[in-house]
Amino acid sequence: TSSHGHGPFIAAIDQGTTSSRCIVFDKDGRIVSVDQKEHEQIFPKPGWVEHDATEIWANVQEVVAGAIAKAGITSADVKAIGITNQRETTLMWDKNTGEPVHNALVWQDTRTDALCKELGRNVGQDRFRRETGLPLASYFSGPKVRWLLDNVEGLRERAERGEILFGTMDSWVIWNLTGGVEGGVHVTDVTNASRTLLMNLHEMAWDERILASIDIPATVLPEIRSSAEVYGTVKGGVLDGVPVASALGDQQAALFGQTCFAEGEAKSTYGTGTFMLMNTGDKIINSYSGLLTTVGYQIGDQKPVYALEGSIAVTGSLVQWMRDQMGLIKSAAEIETLASSVEDNGGAYFVPAFSGLFAPYWRSDARGVIAGLTRYVTKAHIARAVLEATAWQTREITDAMTKDSGVELAALKVDGGMTSNNLLMQTLSDFLDAPVVRPMVAETTCLGAAYAAGLAVGFWPDTDALRANWRRAAEWTPRMDADKRDSEYKNWLKAVERSMGWLE
Ligand code: G3P
Repeated sequence: TSSHGHGPFIAAIDQGTTSSRCIVFDKDGRIVSVDQKEHEQIFPKPGWVEHDATEIWANVQEVVAGAIAKAGITSADVKAIGITNQRETTLMWDKNTGEPVHNALVWQDTRTDALCKELGRNVGQDRFRRETGLPLASYFSGPKVRWLLDNVEGLRERAERGEILFGTMDSWVIWNLTGGVEGGVHVTDVTNASRTLLMNLHEMAWDERILASIDIPATVLPEIRSSAEVYGTVKGGVLDGVPVASALGDQQAALFGQTCFAEGEAKSTYGTGTFMLMNTGDKIINSYSGLLTTVGYQIGDQKPVYALEGSIAVTGSLVQWMRDQMGLIKSAAEIETLASSVEDNGGAYFVPAFSGLFAPYWRSDARGVIAGLTRYVTKAHIARAVLEATAWQTREITDAMTKDSGVELAALKVDGGMTSNNLLMQTLSDFLDAPVVRPMVAETTCLGAAYAAGLAVGFWPDTDALRANWRRAAEWTPRMDADKRDSEYKNWLKAVERSMGWLE
């Protein structure tokens, strides 16, 4: 790392679903150092998923100190820090003590499915779609806030007295970084705000009518800011005095890190879940195919850039589930070896609807199924079905993107942890019938947050300078027989049908 030892640098924090990490980048967008720490996944009941926000903040401080130490630099070498985060995960805390009032409700949590159904009664799940770009689903933050207000004793009264703050993880990290109880700034950025079901996409402001409908007091809300501007400076710790200069939801950060700055450019990120975003420029495109309309990014006082999104709740987390809950593999990497030991899925299809089904179905009442089982099926076939689930789910969202945008997919830009799985990338190319390409820096999420922070403080002059850093590292091309692809796709869709209808 000492070869990059001549600064200055930009640091980025990625507060993700399973871990928090900090990466230091140099001016060429190359990684100088990385530190990472996992946090506990708390599953109190079927369908419930929580995180301990106190543990997360401790981990964030630890990985920041770790990355700075590994780089062998000090705060004087760091021009800005950027924040990116798991989106929608909802936290409320006491602004006078800094204590969370409850564990954070994670985006995967389905406890608000009945509430969402109730909110959509008579009007349907598209009740707030025109304003927010989102269907009513347990995925988003607004209903989670309402659940906390209804279920934590005395919380609504405290909130109405102005003692309680709500935030997604960007807000929590920025508030703590900038001083916490001693003057921490309570902000969020447009991309994170666009996932709450509470922000009006046309005005980039909290929507009073929706707040009243879901019954959330405006006193708890953070201020909505752009994705790239100085919100405040770090108080204390190894980065004392460094400007906090960007915030983007992790998927929007990946879009930025993949330098998808032109209309029509898209990426797909393979992490806990998988999220494909397509830049639609200054156009708010309404989806008729089950995609979300969301904010891509906003640089300072420039116009916001919008995106269409296909969200898949469970991809990498299915591999983790195979490892941690089923014990069928010892490491995540082993899924590839196991799946490669057989020719095909042996007739088995795995629909991992653990958090309901996201795009393009938005069925909170779906639950996971394995279909097509016979005595012939081995754990290797199941491993194969696990990888195929990721590829088929991607195919469903690229089909929806094609319908909504009218643009055929020329190639798919991918990134994220699962892209190191060669069998998966080949299967993806086969099922999409299109090339799949991966850039040199697969850590596009942190890179995007670093890019936005660097633009905000003038470390990089403009987006063209960033584009020059993008380099192709790998490419996979389709080699599957078309008839085989079609019949397999039909079987997959049959299995998807079987996953629905488990709420009643
Ligand atoms: O919307 C959820 C998404 O932001 C989570 O991303 O990478 O933490 O699984 P990841």
